[in-house]
Amino acid sequence: MFDIVVKGGTLPEGTRADIGIEGDRIKAVDVLPDDVDAGEVIDATGDLVSPPFVDPHFHLDATLSYGLPRINASGTLLEGIALWGELKQVTNVEAIRDRALDYCDWAVSMGLLTIRSHVDTCDDTLKGVEALLEVREAVKGYLDLQLVAFPQDGLYRDPTAYDNTIRALDMGVDVVGGIPHFERTMEDGARSVRTLCEIAAERGLMVDMHCDETDDPHSRHIETLAAEAQRLGLQGRVAGSHLTSMHSMDNYYVSKLLPLMAEAGVAAIPNPLINIMLQGRHDTFPKRRGLTRVKEMQALGITVGWGQDCVRDPWYSLGTADMLDVAFMGLHVAQMSSPEEMKRCFDMVTEENARILNLDDYGLRVGQRASLVVLDAGDAIEAVRLRPDRLTVISNGKVVSQKARNDAKLRLNGRPESVRRRHNVN
Ligand code: FE2
Repeated sequence: MFDIVVKGGTLPEGTRADIGIEGDRIKAVDVLPDDVDAGEVIDATGDLVSPPFVDPHFHLDATLSYGLPRINASGTLLEGIALWGELKQVTNVEAIRDRALDYCDWAVSMGLLTIRSHVDTCDDTLKGVEALLEVREAVKGYLDLQLVAFPQDGLYRDPTAYDNTIRALDMGVDVVGGIPHFERTMEDGARSVRTLCEIAAERGLMVDMHCDETDDPHSRHIETLAAEAQRLGLQGRVAGSHLTSMHSMDNYYVSKLLPLMAEAGVAAIPNPLINIMLQGRHDTFPKRRGLTRVKEMQALGITVGWGQDCVRDPWYSLGTADMLDVAFMGLHVAQMSSPEEMKRCFDMVTEENARILNLDDYGLRVGQRASLVVLDAGDAIEAVRLRPDRLTVISNGKVVSQKARNDAKLRLNGRPESVRRRHNVN
């Protein structure tokens, strides 16, 4: 007897299996009888059944604030930071909380059930930290939030950032962040990386830094981050977000850098929607793409996961809470066009992101947490191609979102028929 059985679906690796759920755990991944005893049977015949999406890089304190108090006219990272500084002065805990909760609802409907969100600690009131700790508690039954203490204006550049970052960690923020390329000097940037990694090591926390989010090929803080991960024994617990300067670095230097990252167990989180939008703004032509070296890192065994970063905020005016949009853009910009690479792009918003976040009970395996999403697609590649409806979302053994299948019908002269978007399923 199961509480829920998801019947007839195809798993991301291509096998067909039914998923039996009891309480908040997966009890069976197998072919179950047609008359299986279950409280609810969800027909997923011909659909993709996947573990939920994971976003390893987001800003819940800024999301859904587009136009407040004005829009980003230049479209640059630096104007976005300045604009966020203006918004911080006029917003409050309630407004940040309400926008974040709206986004969380949206995320759940898209099958996105784990989000690592940075939260700005450069504010003496720590209103963003207070708001997001409240949100983390409010949604914890169905959506996992990992919060990163993020000194947006620079650990040393902002006079109270250090103290406020420590306060945020004391209040229960989970991960240590940073922004070394925004410090006043390269030396201050490297010093901030060392200090923040030491704080993480002392407290047993993970590290996730905005690192080298610039087109400057001499921004090499990822080198220091890898060295500190190695020195402090933080292998597998450190991620560098963005790493866009690597796009512009000298190839010889990169041939030394990537093995150091692999040796130090440092993961990479490029954010393709934002990187392609913000980078290269100072170029004429050719205009750089600003995406880090994804396939080259993967070839050396470095874990790389796609992050979303922003939805309708000072840095990005669009966004859909759909990690498949992120994978779709990443696939194009990184030119991951072979079948294996396209499938990997799906994994980079599910399994590989779960690995970066060290989620220990993630995945469609017996004994794991019963969280999954049923997509109106035949397989993982088709899901990236179509970015289809999320038909059912289950979190911790409970159905948290359902949507009717899109069955649009053409009404053309003499040709009334269904719109056929799917071609992989017989
Ligand atoms: Fe970010």
